[in-house]
Amino acid sequence: MEGEAELRRADLASDPLEQFRHWYAEAAAALDVPEAVALATATPDGAPSVRMVLLKGFGERGLVFFSHYTSRKGRELEANPQAALLFHWRPLGRQVRVEGSVERIVDSESDAYFATRPRDAQLGAVASRQSDPLASRAELYERLAELEGDLGGGPVPRPATWGGFRLMPIAWEFWQHGESRLHDRFRYEREPSGGWRVDRLFP
Ligand SMILES: Cc1cc2nc3c(=O)[nH]c(=O)nc-3n(C[C@H](O)[C@H](O)[C@H](O)COP(=O)(O)O)c2cc1C
Repeated sequence: MEGEAELRRADLASDPLEQFRHWYAEAAAALDVPEAVALATATPDGAPSVRMVLLKGFGERGLVFFSHYTSRKGRELEANPQAALLFHWRPLGRQVRVEGSVERIVDSESDAYFATRPRDAQLGAVASRQSDPLASRAELYERLAELEGDLGGGPVPRPATWGGFRLMPIAWEFWQHGESRLHDRFRYEREPSGGWRVDRLFP
């Protein structure tokens, strides 16, 4: 594993988004799928669930991923908009945790992203009732064939039940693997003033 270098407070950006941008660029150079991220959600009474999604963008307005609004994660986010993301970039010995609230992106942005997807992926998004029970693979093929027939080769409209979410961070943690388990951890927390407080944490 590379990335055994110590992470020093002096090396950290004061803005966690800038720190993430820096680490993400290094992850993109070192890994095939740096955008793979675990998304944790929870029911209103606190029962958690977690699954992988793909990060499709990030910036001042949050971290964006796409899914079915009617899926289990979509339903949980609707009822409880608190969520967490976890990246693990093993070749760099790094982990990044992000916590915050989640909202849907605007329809026009979901439309724009949907339009960039391959037709097969678009058809899949329309045909799938993600997270619902499916009797057999054949049922899914039938739904796809029916859809193809209805569309007659025309464009695939984005289903209203599929689109983007943005997580707006209130906390970030940057974790760097160190020798002899002396890992470095720094947690950023949003302050009422709008700035970020940074604490080193015990590993
Ligand atoms: C590497 C990887 C990336 C994935 N990316 C997405 C994604 O971007 N959006 C999505 O809805 N599901 C994605 N999935 C599938 C989800 O992990 C999950 O099975 C699905 O969204 C249903 O989750 P839910 O029932 O908790 O809502 C991905 C799976 C893997 C393994």
